[in-house]
Amino acid sequence: MKFRILLCVVLLGFLGVCQGGDLKKKFYRDSCPEAEDIIKSKTQQHVSDNPNLPAKLIRLHFHDCFVRGCDGSVLLSSTSNNSAERDAIPNLSLAGFDVIDDIKSAVEAKCPKTVSCADILTLATRDAVSVQFNKPMWEVLTGRRDGTVSTSGEALANIPTPFFNLTQLRQSFASKGLTLHDLVVLSGAHTIGVGHCNLFSNRLYNFTGKGDQDPSLNSNYAAFLKTKCTSLSDTTTTVEMDPGSSTKFNSDYYSNLLQNKGLFQSDAALLKLDQSADIAGELVDEDKFLTEFAESMKRMGKIEVLTGSDGEIRKKCSVVNS
Ligand code: HEM
Ligand SMILES: *[C@@H]1O[C@H](CO)[C@@H](O)[C@H](O)[C@H]1NC(C)=O
Ligand SMILES: *[C@@H]1O[C@H](CO)[C@@H](O)[C@H](O)[C@H]1NC(C)=O
Ligand SMILES: *[C@@H]1O[C@H](CO)[C@@H](O)[C@H](O)[C@H]1NC(C)=O
Ligand SMILES: *[C@@H]1O[C@H](CO)[C@@H](O)[C@H](O)[C@H]1NC(C)=O
Repeated sequence: MKFRILLCVVLLGFLGVCQGGDLKKKFYRDSCPEAEDIIKSKTQQHVSDNPNLPAKLIRLHFHDCFVRGCDGSVLLSSTSNNSAERDAIPNLSLAGFDVIDDIKSAVEAKCPKTVSCADILTLATRDAVSVQFNKPMWEVLTGRRDGTVSTSGEALANIPTPFFNLTQLRQSFASKGLTLHDLVVLSGAHTIGVGHCNLFSNRLYNFTGKGDQDPSLNSNYAAFLKTKCTSLSDTTTTVEMDPGSSTKFNSDYYSNLLQNKGLFQSDAALLKLDQSADIAGELVDEDKFLTEFAESMKRMGKIEVLTGSDGEIRKKCSVVNS
C-alpha cells in the first residue's frame, strides 16, 4: 500500500493526480451484496418522480470529482466554522442532495457503515442517466471512500466557470487528468438540464461592455434567449440548455453547438480550435456519442479517489463521522 502510494507520487506526481487504480468491479459483493440493486431501484423511483433528476445528479457528480476527487465531499454541509463546497458560488442550483440522503438511508438500513457516499453518488448518477435507455450506460467500479474535508474556496478554485475560454477549460480538465477529447465529450452532458440567465446574458446584452451581442452566438437563438432573459439583472430565470429536449439524453448538444447555439461561452469555446470542433462534429452521431460518453464518465469517476484505508465510510452523507 505504502509502496503503491510512493510509486504513484513518483511516477505520476508530475500530472498532479493519481487515478483510481484500486477501484474494483462489485467491491461490495461480499460486504453488501444488495447495495447496487438498492441504489438502482431507489434512483429509478426518484427519476420517475422527477425527470430533471439525471441532470442534477450528473452535475453533482462532476462537481464532486473536480474538487478533491470523487470523495463525496460535495455532499457535506457547512458547519459553524466551515463553509463547504456546496455553499460556494458555483453551487448555484446544485440539487439532488435529498435523493442521495434517501438512498444512503436505505443502504444503511441493510449494511451499516459499509457503502461510501462517493460510490452511491457515482452509481446513482449512472443509474439515473440510464433510466431512459433501460440498461446501464457505463460500468461503475466501486471502492471509493469518503473524504472529510469540503471547503467552498476549493470549489471556487476547481470548478470551471461558464465564462472560461478554451485554454482555461483545457487547463482545468488537464489538471484532473482529462484530455481535450474528454472535455468535448463530457460537455455533451449539457444535452440535459437548465442554465440560469445571468450565466450567459452578457452574450445577449453586453458582450464587450458596449451593449453588444456575442457575434459567435446564432442570432435567431440569441433573439429567442432574449425573450426568456429580458435583462442583465435576471438571476432567477432558467432556460433549457437543449431547447425542447432537456430531459432527453442525446447528441443534440453537438448539432446545436455546430449551429452556434451553445448556451454558455464555455460551450461555444469548443468550436475555437479545429481539433475540438472536429470532435464535436463526430459526436453528432448518437451511437458514437454514447460510447465515448461512457468512456469519459469512467475516467471522470476515477479522479483522485480515496481507497483502501484512506478517508472513511460516512454514516450520513452530509456530515463527517464524529
Ligand atoms: C466544461 C466545463 C463546464 C462548465 C463551465 C459547466 C458549467 C455549467 C453551468 C454554468 C451550468 C448551469 C448552472 C445553473 O445555471 O444552474 C451547468 C449545468 C449543468 N452541467 Fe455543466 N459545466 C461544465 C461541464 C459539465 C460536465 C463535465 C458535466 C457532467 C458530465 C456537466 C453537467 C451539467 C448538467 C447536467 C447541468 C444541468 C444542471 C441542472 O439542470 O440543474 N457540466 N454547467
Ligand atoms: C472547527 O474547525 C476545527 C479545525 O479546523 C475542527 O477541529 C473543529 O471540529 C471544528 N468545529 C466545528 C464545530 O465544526
Ligand atoms: C449555495 O451557496 C449559497 C452561499 O454562497 C447558499 O446560500 C446556498 O444555500 C447554497 N445552495 C445550496 C443548494 O446548497
Ligand atoms: C483565456 O483567458 C485567459 C484569462 O482571462 C487569458 O489570459 C488568455 O489570454 C485567454 N486565451 C485566449 C486564447 O483567449
Ligand atoms: C456594460 O458593460 C460596461 C463595461 O463593463 C458597463 O460600464 C455597463 O454599465 C454595462 N451595461 C449594462 C447595461 O449593464
